[in-house]
Amino acid sequence: MCGIVGYVGNRPLIDTLINGLKRLEYRGYDSSGIAFIENNEIRVIKEVGKVATLLKTISQEIENTEFSATGIAHTRWATHGEPSHRNSHPHLDSKGNFAVVHNGIIENYAALKGQLMAKGCKFNSDTDTEVIAHLISELYEGDFLKAVAAALKQLNGTYGIAVISKFHPDMIIAARKGSPIVIGVGNEEMIVASDISALISYTRKVIYLDDNDIAVIKKNEVDIRNIDIIPVNRELAHVDWDAGAAEKGGFDHFMLKEIYEQDSAVVNTIRGRINIEEATAILSGLGFNPRELASISNIIIAACGTSMHAGLVGEYFFEDLAGIPTEVAQAAEFRYRNPIIRPDTLVIAVSQSGETADTLAAVRESKNKGALVAGICNVVGSTIARETGSGIYLHAGPEIGVASTKAFTCQVITLLMMAVKFGRSRRLARNRAIEVLEEIQNVPALIKETLKSAPEIERIAKKYSGIDNAFYIGRGYLYPVALEGALKLKEISYIHAEGYHAAELKHGPIALLEEKVPVIALANDIPGKDKILSNMQECKARKSPIIATATIGDLEVQNIANDVIYLPRCSEYVTPIVTVIALQLFSYYVARERGCSIDQPRNLAKSVTVE
Ligand code: F6R
Repeated sequence: MCGIVGYVGNRPLIDTLINGLKRLEYRGYDSSGIAFIENNEIRVIKEVGKVATLLKTISQEIENTEFSATGIAHTRWATHGEPSHRNSHPHLDSKGNFAVVHNGIIENYAALKGQLMAKGCKFNSDTDTEVIAHLISELYEGDFLKAVAAALKQLNGTYGIAVISKFHPDMIIAARKGSPIVIGVGNEEMIVASDISALISYTRKVIYLDDNDIAVIKKNEVDIRNIDIIPVNRELAHVDWDAGAAEKGGFDHFMLKEIYEQDSAVVNTIRGRINIEEATAILSGLGFNPRELASISNIIIAACGTSMHAGLVGEYFFEDLAGIPTEVAQAAEFRYRNPIIRPDTLVIAVSQSGETADTLAAVRESKNKGALVAGICNVVGSTIARETGSGIYLHAGPEIGVASTKAFTCQVITLLMMAVKFGRSRRLARNRAIEVLEEIQNVPALIKETLKSAPEIERIAKKYSGIDNAFYIGRGYLYPVALEGALKLKEISYIHAEGYHAAELKHGPIALLEEKVPVIALANDIPGKDKILSNMQECKARKSPIIATATIGDLEVQNIANDVIYLPRCSEYVTPIVTVIALQLFSYYVARERGCSIDQPRNLAKSVTVE
């Protein structure tokens, strides 16, 4: 959730760290700070607020910012301690010999803090992180690596850390347990970060740390050890995202850019994966042999938030096309409800970032219980992708906007390809599979067509931008989209919105309907449309204004709805995609009209790496 970046090399340090922080700002952003070694001392500068505020303070405090040095930096999303100057990272030990930035939660920090205070350590913050700096300092006897390893052994909880010491100005020590750390390997320089977006403008060669790894990073070498200081080998990987993908490219917001790049994102997701001849999808990353495929008895999709909504669409796909009983588990709940896992249960973890702590915990629980486990992730080399071993990458490119958009679309497409593949190993007829595969190939064109409705959606969004509450209703394949539409609206515009199955509305929530509470009804022409028309009538009778999505050419919907967003005709399998894009645009324009911080909504972080 917080962002970490560290640099050792010959570039101007401030520029490099600030650039890295800006790329990471989307992960968490209530405060930020840097620490670097200057004249054999550690200097720390931090600020509450955005990275731009930090940069301003740095420019006021440092006359010439062009120097090179070893340094670390952080953007914070508060867990322990309110967002404030004193709680911002980096944190120092009492003597100012070590500086630490940290992502994660140290669960036993209170006990450790008590012990350290008894030894005379003076604490300057309310954070859990500060104990790490004091512990390292207490354990330091001239060997930096040994002190860090010994300190980490005392911690319970999760961490991704980067540490510098005034005694070792040529190195950064980084370590991970539960929070990602990646090292970018350059020419006479290394950049360490919690997320590859911070380093792709410098290098594409990276090393991902595994849990319990500790890396000693110097400008010419990286030495990786385990917690017992025994050397371990980690491969050098190549990142194929280009730096431009992490820029706004002329759009006002990353969210809008990512909405508009969904056609090309889908092209990348399906590239080389559709085989019409064989009437199947080629998903070699799954690595299941035909016997394993045919013997899957049931599927559990574990995910959170938007990824869980994509999973709910997937549930329909697997049951409809492959005939495999499927359920969707909110990942945080998964391991606490003692899920029934049989030897032939497949657990699919869906996660854009591949780092969501609850989804990762579900993966580990499933593996312990002997399930087959597969991941659907966007971030290559992410923890879930690596721990599942089997899976499918979205190849959607970096998603920077906090509100997930293109990841949802590509997750739905991926689940649809999986359902076709699984279906072909059992009851799905060749002709029907070909129909679905051809429809998938047509999705990029459908998305382009959908995006043409943007001006009309903007007009409608402006009209309703002053509302305080809204309901989204859908049925069948559009029920999960109603949930997703409501989530998009609340997270970026702060309007209270609820997604409901259209039939469920009258079992209670209908009591809330009145003229100030619009209902967004997903009334596209797919099975169940007649029923949703009745549900719209029920809402209209309670005076709610109705905004509907409908299939181009449909005249019935406009007789009931106050405003209609027309979308291209397509089968029910891909309606979730065209419809969600309309709802993403609707939320975007409402939020823009209300002057909200669209790419960085309050209280949210892109990747939720704490449970
Ligand atoms: C909403 C959103 C979140 C994420 C959720 C899971 O727009 O982005 O609900 O979908 O935090 O994240 P991933 O997919 O990275 O596991």
